Amino acid sequence: MSDVVLTGDRPTGQLHLGHYFGTLANRVALQGVHPMYVLIADYQVITDRDTPGEIQRNITELLLDYLAVGLDPRQVTIFQHSAVPELNQLLLPFLSLVSVAELSRNPTVKDEIAHSSQSAVSGLMFTYPVHQAADILFCKGTLVPVGKDQLPHLEVTRLVARRFNERYGPVFPEPQAMMGASPMLRGLDGGKMSKSRGNAITLAATEDETAALIRKARTDADRLITFDEERRPEVANLLMLAGLCLGRPPQEIAEEIGDGGAVTLKRVVTDAVNDFLAPIRKRRREHGEADAREVLAEGNERARERAIATLDEVRAAMGF
Ligand code: TRP
Repeated sequence: MSDVVLTGDRPTGQLHLGHYFGTLANRVALQGVHPMYVLIADYQVITDRDTPGEIQRNITELLLDYLAVGLDPRQVTIFQHSAVPELNQLLLPFLSLVSVAELSRNPTVKDEIAHSSQSAVSGLMFTYPVHQAADILFCKGTLVPVGKDQLPHLEVTRLVARRFNERYGPVFPEPQAMMGASPMLRGLDGGKMSKSRGNAITLAATEDETAALIRKARTDADRLITFDEERRPEVANLLMLAGLCLGRPPQEIAEEIGDGGAVTLKRVVTDAVNDFLAPIRKRRREHGEADAREVLAEGNERARERAIATLDEVRAAMGF
């Protein structure tokens, strides 16, 4: 049986280089090889905040990011939760398959609750991983390119698929996670790379913005540049970033810089990142808001057809 790839992003801000090397590169490599769905998880935005915020703007930016990195809407179905009611309706039977205890011990949910700015934790915070199972299973996804933090959610999806099949007969595959091959990139301040922390190079950043961000990056006082992740995490992270952009081992770049110090290191990193982003920036300029809307409208229609077929099958299996 051939694979179906499904993955998604919450539309909460622009994508950055961490996303690129973590999952976007994988998606571009897999498009055309397998049928692929990319979900703009708009309903998932309200799991850790009270309102969706600038949702339309964020959705447009996300679509432009997708087109910029080279996702091809003829080969990939790009769609959103809120346009596919039949996907959302799968949540109801799926919720009946998991216990409250299982929902409560999801480590990613626990972590999000710990970092949430909400005054009260909503029911959706505990149940969205089951909704994510609907995201993956509506198209019978088998391969899910994600980061490590998503593994507990994938376990929920596998559990839902297994229990559904046991209770009602074989309908769903048990999907597998697909992890990016690249090492985790940190932000330019050494912490977790995140748009909201101002330490990430977004795919939409200009050359000047990129240079300014890298100029401010944290390094250390040792002039001799070496690749030492343990003792010099900030320098190592910059070397890794340059290495990923250049397709070269970071150790080799460190040796070339030698005793050139942080100034040389930052110049090398800035050039590497800007050269790498040049074709992505060019493609971004070739697409406008109208293209983005059209891509989404077409994707939504295709996804909906798929969801209707799966919901029919689910209802029939359950005897509704
Ligand atoms: N939870 C994912 C994130 O925060 C986004 C997401 C929603 C997703 N539905 C998905 C990822 C389905 C993979 C598959 O990044």
